[in-house]
Amino acid sequence: MATEIITFVPFELSAPASLTEIEILEAELTKHFETKLTVEKQLTRQLVSFQANKAAPFYRWYKYKEGFSAALIAFLIDTGEIGPGKILDPFAGAGTTLFAARDLGFDADGIELLPIGRQVIESRLQAESLSAEDLERIGFWMLKKPWKNVSDEPSLKELRITRGAYPEQSRLSIDKYIHALASETPSVARILKLALLCVLEDVSYTRKDGQYLRWDSRSERQGGGKFFDKGTILSFDDAITIKLEQILGDINSQATQFGLFGQPDPGKISLIPGSCLDILPGLKGDSYSAIITSPPYCNRYDYTRTYALELAALGVGEVELTKLRQAMLSCTVENKAKDLIKLNSHWAEAIQAADRQLLLQSILTFLDNERDEKRLNNSGIARMVRGYFYEMSCTLFELYRVLAPGGQLYMVNDNVRYAGVGISVDLILSSFAESFGFIVEKIMVLPRGKGNSSQQMGLHGREQLRKCVYVWRKSL
Ligand SMILES: C[S@@+](CC[C@H](N)C(=O)[O-])C[C@H]1O[C@@H](n2cnc3c(N)ncnc32)[C@H](O)[C@@H]1O
Repeated sequence: MATEIITFVPFELSAPASLTEIEILEAELTKHFETKLTVEKQLTRQLVSFQANKAAPFYRWYKYKEGFSAALIAFLIDTGEIGPGKILDPFAGAGTTLFAARDLGFDADGIELLPIGRQVIESRLQAESLSAEDLERIGFWMLKKPWKNVSDEPSLKELRITRGAYPEQSRLSIDKYIHALASETPSVARILKLALLCVLEDVSYTRKDGQYLRWDSRSERQGGGKFFDKGTILSFDDAITIKLEQILGDINSQATQFGLFGQPDPGKISLIPGSCLDILPGLKGDSYSAIITSPPYCNRYDYTRTYALELAALGVGEVELTKLRQAMLSCTVENKAKDLIKLNSHWAEAIQAADRQLLLQSILTFLDNERDEKRLNNSGIARMVRGYFYEMSCTLFELYRVLAPGGQLYMVNDNVRYAGVGISVDLILSSFAESFGFIVEKIMVLPRGKGNSSQQMGLHGREQLRKCVYVWRKSL
């Protein structure tokens, strides 16, 4: 079916944006994409979140809460029409797209900014090429706990926001463990380090809670905040033993299934470290048969805070942490505006697409006004929302360029709400996509919980925010 292109009517951007105006523009854009919005019963929350990975060998080692599941990638590849070639994930996280696509026979490239996701991906690749001696050595660590006999001079790095995160005994054990693993071969040490990263949250007083780390009331740091009990806090020795057993178990059962690492390697994974805003412009055009990704949502989640324990353990210091936070796609109230044209002069078209998106401009004017009237619970929200959409516009512009003609882009994302106004991220980004030449094939909406008509709530509900998988195609 031919896709109608939105025509932009002249619009007085400086006019005060009222809620009525937002509602009218929202209704117009909804109407424009009405036939594309489809409630997809098979897209459960489990599938579109990390939950379905919790029992999946290899994926379950490190719980990347903001990840999606390998089963989702299998579903999309199965039901989509992805041609042979390479798949890209510009926000690779812990590498779900890369590994799942690779296992289905595709070469896969990933870009990831944060060292924690990169470390998980690289360690997992390392785990696939361990020798029998390496495995034996890891088994020795699991059984004999050699770190117990070494010195406990401080070796775990800390950040201001992680100070006091562990019970004293576990902290000492972590120091010894880090000290001891330094004398292992690089391949064994990498897996031991991965196991450490996998248990840090479990053995700490903290819990990842989207925008920040939540502190258990047993910690000295918790102070006068609300009472919070995260439940059992495992001792480090117990937690690491369980984790090493799980890692070895998964590797060994794969080896038994396919012969010791004789499993044919159907695709190749390449990881490019850094920000996709810097890296995408350097990638060759028309080169990917599909892009499957999930960017940070516009929801104030601060990955540099929630993953601070892991980042500190990887040696990230205060200055680097601040730099990483700023380099991330704007999704926190602390992100400063990025000078996108200075970053890349070719992005004028992408910026124009955002400038001309009427619903977005109306929402931004409204949020600016709410900020000026001191009605936002954080004054950085307006800047964050603006930064999010403009940076996403530049990203989508580049993704269109690198996708092969006829190639598809799948994106998982959530709508958000600020100052009482629902922001249809799905419709606004799809509108940018159309302006770059994408055909919006579908916006697959996740069904709602019990008691709601999924059709009504899914497509038009204001109470619940849509969670979607967008399917766009680059024209031939
Ligand atoms: C929703 S998560 C993706 C999770 C991934 N789908 C998985 O299953 O593991 C978004 C990721 O984007 C990364 N990210 C944020 N800003 C980035 C940027 N400018 N360039 C590259 N990666 C970025 C974050 O570090 C995070 O890992």
